[in-house]
Amino acid sequence: MKSLKQFAVSAAALGVALGLSFAAQAEMMIGFSQIGSESGWRTSETASIKAEAEKRGIDLKFSDAQQKQENQIKAVRSFIAQGVDGILLAPVVETGWDQVLKEAKDAGIPVVLVDRGVAADDSLYLTKVASDFVVEGALAAAWLAAETNAVCDVVELQGTVGSSAANDRKAGFESVVGNFPAINIIRSQSGDFTRSGGKEVMESFLKAEDGGKNICAVYAHNDDMALGAVQAIKEAGLKPGTDILIVSIDAVPDIFKAMADGDTNATIELNPHLGGPSFDAIAAAKEGKDVPKWIKANGPLFLPDTAAEEYKMRSK
Ligand code: AHR
Repeated sequence: MKSLKQFAVSAAALGVALGLSFAAQAEMMIGFSQIGSESGWRTSETASIKAEAEKRGIDLKFSDAQQKQENQIKAVRSFIAQGVDGILLAPVVETGWDQVLKEAKDAGIPVVLVDRGVAADDSLYLTKVASDFVVEGALAAAWLAAETNAVCDVVELQGTVGSSAANDRKAGFESVVGNFPAINIIRSQSGDFTRSGGKEVMESFLKAEDGGKNICAVYAHNDDMALGAVQAIKEAGLKPGTDILIVSIDAVPDIFKAMADGDTNATIELNPHLGGPSFDAIAAAKEGKDVPKWIKANGPLFLPDTAAEEYKMRSK
């Protein structure tokens, strides 16, 4: 597996490399179709992108799709009708975007995919500003293999069905555990990236697996579901983080608190600050500059030893 450092792209370095200034962006009107507010990470991402737009004097038109692709398609069409300079799209699912992306392209409006990807030809959008979810899943599995001497029955809490985040995190995890015959994914179900979904699905896993006695670890596609699982495991009379190990993805402040308390064991950071490189990419395209098709933003894996300190810094 490649090192995460090899994947890291500095947003600031990208802006400088493209020769962009904030002044050039101050006149821009940009539409942002966001998925919703299912998780702590999503809420931070929305706040970060709005703050970045304000800092740059960008007129940001924001639309919350409340988890519905049809709302996102309507929002994109409305942005096109308003003649925006560019569109940020955080696609809830991977498929079904070709037509609306073609409409934006025909109107000469660059679309930046933020955070999640689509299953469409990459000529239909300007760039994707996102982490490599396959790498995140692989990293979670590598940690689990090392922690358990590669002997573990694991349950998986998947993200939203059909999303690139869930599809790729699952594929990345499986690509590594496939090398270890004594690591088995014994149950796998979607908790929809929410805390309540994670709790509910974990309760059903615990019931089905002799009150949890057969479960060695939880792999949660995000921190919110992991935190829901923590609650379910406690209510079942077991100790999360000890009786059942937990690895998840996002690195939101609450997971550092849980790790510091011994309730979870590892998290992989998903950078929520995707506004800067997205706005830079749109400005670069307007100036006729080349923009890479994927601007990667992967983060490291955190363990309990730094959790208290990280929580202090991140919850300010
Ligand atoms: O697409 C990224 C995922 O979506 C984050 O991991 C999750 O928290 C969010 O809701």
